[in-house]
Amino acid sequence: MQYIEINGGRKLDGKISVQGAKNSALPILAGAVLIDGESELHNCPLLSDVDVCLQIIHGLGGTTSREKSIITVDSRELCGCDIPQSLMAEMRSSIIFLGSVAARCGRACMYLPGGCQIGARPIDLHLKALQKLGYKITFDGSNICCERAGASGGVVELAFPSVGATENTILASVLLDGTTTIINAAMEPEIADLADFLNKAGAKISGAGTSRIVIEGVKSLHSVAYSVMPDRIAASTYMAAVAASGGTVCLSGAKAEHILSVMGVINKMGGGIKSKGDEITVTFTDRPQAVKSITTGVYPAFPTDSQAPIMASLCTANGASVINETIFENRLRHVPELRRFGADIISSGNTARIIGVEKLHGADVTCTDLRGGAALIVAALGAQGKSRIYKISHIDRGYENAERQFAALGADIRRLDDEKEQQPKKE
Ligand code: UD1
Repeated sequence: MQYIEINGGRKLDGKISVQGAKNSALPILAGAVLIDGESELHNCPLLSDVDVCLQIIHGLGGTTSREKSIITVDSRELCGCDIPQSLMAEMRSSIIFLGSVAARCGRACMYLPGGCQIGARPIDLHLKALQKLGYKITFDGSNICCERAGASGGVVELAFPSVGATENTILASVLLDGTTTIINAAMEPEIADLADFLNKAGAKISGAGTSRIVIEGVKSLHSVAYSVMPDRIAASTYMAAVAASGGTVCLSGAKAEHILSVMGVINKMGGGIKSKGDEITVTFTDRPQAVKSITTGVYPAFPTDSQAPIMASLCTANGASVINETIFENRLRHVPELRRFGADIISSGNTARIIGVEKLHGADVTCTDLRGGAALIVAALGAQGKSRIYKISHIDRGYENAERQFAALGADIRRLDDEKEQQPKKE
């Protein structure tokens, strides 16, 4: 079993490139299914979730190849409509293939998706939206079948601006013979990225990035080359790590306008931030300051995905901070693990009060989910002494070479394997 070992307490200094966004690459790969041709996707992160998408596309009859961060998907021969349970169970985003596969092939059959256990994560909004477009859906609580015959678009008003449901609705409607309007759409930058990709392939989507998106159906989509946006959550994780460890780190390929809410918090914590072009430089010279109140919310509010890493950096802040999680009902599972480092956190329901201690100490901890796992790296980097982080497959779902990135910034961090008598992983 692989784990990450960190000898914490070293300042982070240097420059790293931010990977392409996982949460953009996955829906764009689902979008590649719609294209009667090739999609050449640049800046695709090397992540296990991306691999799952490629396996799904293979299973549907598409072909894929990868050359470093460029993935090419050829969907010309794609005609399958089934996604096996084993792949659906790997990640939540597999559900985004529902709209694109049904739209492209006339029918999609799959299972309830897996993914991080951070809440109930129902798919009711996805199913209702597709039904509103005219798709016929049968769902027995496990198997989902979606038929396109008769679908022609419509007005979809989402009860909550769900990111996944907005993406599924866009993907299900671009090839329909009619117009679709999404009201109360999610406004996350990843939605605009998906729409930009599809528009470049010939789709007619307007308003993506606002709460009202209009999709005029087109007959087909053509081959396209597109570059995935930078990962704003990875960028905010690196910022949290600088807050916990101190130092000066330049994040290249990052977009400041996507993470203004996180930069605002970093600022309140006493961090210096300079952004110029596609570079953000973060500096912490002193112990971070506490932040009275952080509440997660839909974009442009503070992202739920950045909550755990920022909490880890607040564990050594000067004073008490309060974090209120409003998006997912079970997203404080990292709290007991952070306590193993000596953090003083009181949690009640979806609120955590973090009373900053002067120093954390090294600990053996276990990842509970993807962003919770990233929080454990942040805490271990700032802690005095040795830490071992287990169940790192969670981290590999969302961070490309996390240990190499931090090592490049001067961290004492390595990936080891229990079964290979703690020999470093062969590349
Ligand atoms: C996406 C992101 C995830 C991020 C989340 C919120 C991807 C791959 N994942 O997840 O990293 O944390 O947005 O920014 O892009 N809900 C329902 N019914 C539904 C769908 C959602 O009740 O049919 C609820 C969820 O339970 C949750 C809230 O809506 O409480 C937000 O979920 P949603 O925006 O859909 O998140 P995801 O698309 O799953």
